[in-house]
Amino acid sequence: MIGKHKLELDTPCLVIDKNKLMNNIETMQAFATAKSKQVRPHAKTHKCVEICQLQLDAGSIGISITKPSEAYELAKAKIRHLLITSPIVTKHKLATLAKILKLAPETMLVVDSNANLTQLNQLGCELNLSINLLIDIDAGIGRTGASFEAAFGLALAVHQHSNTVLKGIQCYAGHFQHIVDNDERKQASAALLNKAGKLKQDIEHATGLVNLIQSGSGTGTYQIDSDIASVTEIQPGSYSVMDQEYFDIEYSVGNSADNSVGHFQPAMTLLTSVISANHSTHVTVDAGTKALYKETTHPQIISHDGLKYEWHYFGDEHGKVSGDNLPNVGGMIEMIVPHCDPTINLHDKFYVVEDDIVVEVWDIALRGKLA
Ligand SMILES: Cc1ncc(COP(=O)(O)O)c(C=O)c1O
Repeated sequence: MIGKHKLELDTPCLVIDKNKLMNNIETMQAFATAKSKQVRPHAKTHKCVEICQLQLDAGSIGISITKPSEAYELAKAKIRHLLITSPIVTKHKLATLAKILKLAPETMLVVDSNANLTQLNQLGCELNLSINLLIDIDAGIGRTGASFEAAFGLALAVHQHSNTVLKGIQCYAGHFQHIVDNDERKQASAALLNKAGKLKQDIEHATGLVNLIQSGSGTGTYQIDSDIASVTEIQPGSYSVMDQEYFDIEYSVGNSADNSVGHFQPAMTLLTSVISANHSTHVTVDAGTKALYKETTHPQIISHDGLKYEWHYFGDEHGKVSGDNLPNVGGMIEMIVPHCDPTINLHDKFYVVEDDIVVEVWDIALRGKLA
């Protein structure tokens, strides 16, 4: 595979342009550093050890990840300073956490209930170590997180327990990331994160702890959140490879809607081949919903003008591409996917190219690690 042009690859497959990936990683790191913030990139997006390492090499303070099974893969690969951003509650997941902590005792995780705190403190006792915790605060989505009112008491309890260490708070506002209008997004995120910052200050006063972490933020709000004084670190994910849903929002500096300028570039694309072309209206390609996660946003075809990937009818293994000047059988189509994270989770490998030539193949090692 190494040395081949990307158009010689078997399809459907995911291709990463290494220069664009590095541009994205370095752009985010430079921006945060200029604002005196740390970056703990979220690996839920790319699920790839090699990309974690590039992010750490560029200056990231650690790596964020969602599930214990994912964190365990990273710990085994010697990726350190992990933050697990979702509560770990069940018996199986606590057993995985124990294995992670044996490899990487500095790992931080979040807690959003007293019941879970009891479990974690007990695990800390059994392992004879102190578990580093952030209080997860409900940003208003109702997904995970304690309410602002409950978070204060929970923080004091973490501080008082024998085998847990209070490291700070996490407040991630997923529902703000794709607000299209930059000013509207700014208002919503700044109000929430300032409120979280006030809570952090109250916790510091009550406990005597200083320099608590405030973590959160994503690709949609990283600029906004980096201007909030209390925020210490940001955990963006999608910026590394980008997707069409993010190209559809406004950014305040530049506008990346043309996919080539602005903050981040489309580092990852999906290649698919035309396998049937018996109609004047459309062709059939080999990427259906098993290769391309379905969203309301359409993929953005970048290899041809005037073609559209249609979502309906063709299903699991096949996709319908309509438009004028349709490619012939065997032709290849390249597109930016609507939503990077769940599409990546459908694939085993990234084909990494420089000047369109494959230079490396990386495993998507955390793919399918859902527990
Ligand atoms: C807790 C948490 N932090 C950070 C992110 C990264 O967000 P994005 O991919 O929008 O940059 C996510 C994404 O869902 C998340 O759930």
